[in-house]
Amino acid sequence: MSQFTDIVEKKLISYLPKTDNEDIQELVSSMEYSLMAGGKRVRPMLTVEFAKLCGGSEEAAMPFACALEMIHTYSLIHDDLPCMDNDDLRRGKPTNHKVYGEATALLAGNGLLTHAFEVLVSDEAIRLNGYDKCAKAVRVLSECAGVNGMLGGQMIDLESEGKSVDVEHLKVMDNKKTGALMIAAAKLGCISAGATEEQFEAACEYASDIGLAFQIIDDMLDITSTTEELGKPVGSDDENEKSTYAALLGLEECRRLAGELTDKAVSSLGIFGDRAKVLNDFAVYLLNREK
Ligand code: IPE
Ligand code: IPE
Ligand code: MG
Ligand code: MG
Ligand code: MG
Repeated sequence: MSQFTDIVEKKLISYLPKTDNEDIQELVSSMEYSLMAGGKRVRPMLTVEFAKLCGGSEEAAMPFACALEMIHTYSLIHDDLPCMDNDDLRRGKPTNHKVYGEATALLAGNGLLTHAFEVLVSDEAIRLNGYDKCAKAVRVLSECAGVNGMLGGQMIDLESEGKSVDVEHLKVMDNKKTGALMIAAAKLGCISAGATEEQFEAACEYASDIGLAFQIIDDMLDITSTTEELGKPVGSDDENEKSTYAALLGLEECRRLAGELTDKAVSSLGIFGDRAKVLNDFAVYLLNREK
């Protein structure tokens, strides 16, 4: 995992836009600040592992994996803004707007969002994957990050603050705000590899289940962890009166549910046999993570 992180981070740096304009450089620096602040690189890992599992290569999947990590990082920069979750710490460092100011942080998020699509159809991506796969990748990433995916989930999240909602409502919200980018990760890997329909469906089921489990654990860690360990402020959800699984069901039931979803995710990869071991272990690692 840490070896993979090094490889992804070198690639992420290399894909950042270049400029010789001093003012624009400030924007690129703010994009780089959040992109390179650390982070578990869960989504790129999924993209590359699904590509390899379905007969593709790490090299070809890498532009797709990095584009997705740019979208994810943009979602975090905006999620932390005072008008959203109003958090001061991310990936163990002051949040983007604390360092660069709100206006630049807004642009940095927009910059990463826009640039991700440039990376998806870059010369390198096209050389390694061909036009058809790159076009499919654009379609998948825009759908998953867009209004009926991550953005829609974020909207439901904001609208649910201070309200009492039921489990079904939380499931819809979390599937969108977090599950959608996990599904994007799996789909992008499958697209790069030219996966079969059956492989594609299994990958989506796995990603959907670990995505929901991931948000449930994230909500639990907001209660049980420390700011030092997590690298982001604990108690933020409570302060914002967020509607979460942890608040509604309690920690014990959350742990059971996350475990159940992880088991289901693992069984979805049954068609791959032993070759799915890395992704199966990864699902368990995500379940037991402490940050
Ligand atoms: C945080 O995602 C936002 C959620 C969807 C819960 P990660 O926990 O993957 O954040 P990083 O990338 O490791 O910082
Ligand atoms: C955010 O969920 C998910 C995104 C789409 C960014 P959270 O608001 O719980 O994420 P953290 O806890 O700030 O990382
Ligand atoms: Mg949020
Ligand atoms: Mg947040
Ligand atoms: Mg959270």
